[in-house]
Amino acid sequence: MLKVTDLNVYYGESHVLHDVSLNVEPGSAVAIVGRNGMGKSTLLKALIGMVPARRGAIESTAAAHPLPSYRRVKAGLGFVPQGRMIFPQLSVEENILTGLETRRYTAYPGFIYEFFPVLREMKDRKGGNLSGGQQQQLAIARALVSRPKLLILDEPTEGIQPSIIKDIARSLNDLRKELGLAVLVSEQVLSFALDVADRLLVIDRGRIVRETEKHDLDIEAVRSYLTV
Ligand SMILES: Nc1ncnc2c1ncn2[C@@H]1O[C@H](COP(=O)(O)OP(=O)(O)OP(=O)(O)O)[C@@H](O)[C@H]1O
Ligand SMILES: [Mg+2]
Repeated sequence: MLKVTDLNVYYGESHVLHDVSLNVEPGSAVAIVGRNGMGKSTLLKALIGMVPARRGAIESTAAAHPLPSYRRVKAGLGFVPQGRMIFPQLSVEENILTGLETRRYTAYPGFIYEFFPVLREMKDRKGGNLSGGQQQQLAIARALVSRPKLLILDEPTEGIQPSIIKDIARSLNDLRKELGLAVLVSEQVLSFALDVADRLLVIDRGRIVRETEKHDLDIEAVRSYLTV
C-alpha cells in the first residue's frame, strides 16, 4: 500500500532523514515512535508531499506518485497534522467539509457522524470552542471524508488527556475494522502506539533504528529511545 525506500530529506543543508525505508500493508497499522525533533513530522510530511525528498522513493498504491499533495490526498491518503490545525472560526461541519472538494459537497458522508457522534451534536459550534480531544476527532473526521485508504496521523495524542487518548485509540481501531483502513501514526506515547499499531518503527535522529512486530516487542529497548 505504501512503500518507502531510502528516503533522504534535507532542510537546506541540514540532513534530517537518512535512508528511511518502511512498508505499510493494506489494512495494517504502523507506528513510528521517537522523541522530539527526531524527524517524525518531516517523514510524514514527505510522504504526503509537503516537503520534498532529495533521494529515495515513495510508492503508493493508494495514490500514484509523484502528485501534488492535494491530489495525493484525493487519491487515497488522509492526513491529520500535528497540532490538529482545525479552523477555529469555522463550524464543526464546515471544518469537516474542508476535507472535500467543493463539487463533492453533496456527497457528504454520513458515516463520519456515526463514528464521532459528539461531532454531530456540535456540528454548528465553532471548531475553536471544542476541547482538545474533540478537535482531534474533528481533524480525523476531516481527513476521513475524502475516504482515504491510508490514514496518516502525526502525534495525535499531543496535548490530550489520558482518558481521551483511550477514546482516540478505540476510534482508530474501529475505523480500521469497519472501513478496512490502513494507519500510519507517529507517536511519543508508547502505550497509545501499542494500542493502535501492529508494528513499531523507532526513529532516532532521522534514522529508523529498530523495527519490530508488536508481539515480539522488547518494550524496555523501545522505551530507552523515548526517555531522555
Ligand atoms: N522547516 C524546517 N526548517 C529547518 N529545520 C527543520 C524544519 N522543520 C523541522 N526541522 C528540524 O528537523 C528535525 C526534525 O524535526 P521534526 O519536526 O520532523 O521532528 P519530530 O520528530 O516531528 O519532533 P516533535 O515530536 O517535536 O514534533 C529537527 O531537528 C527540527 O529542528
Ligand atoms: Mg512532529
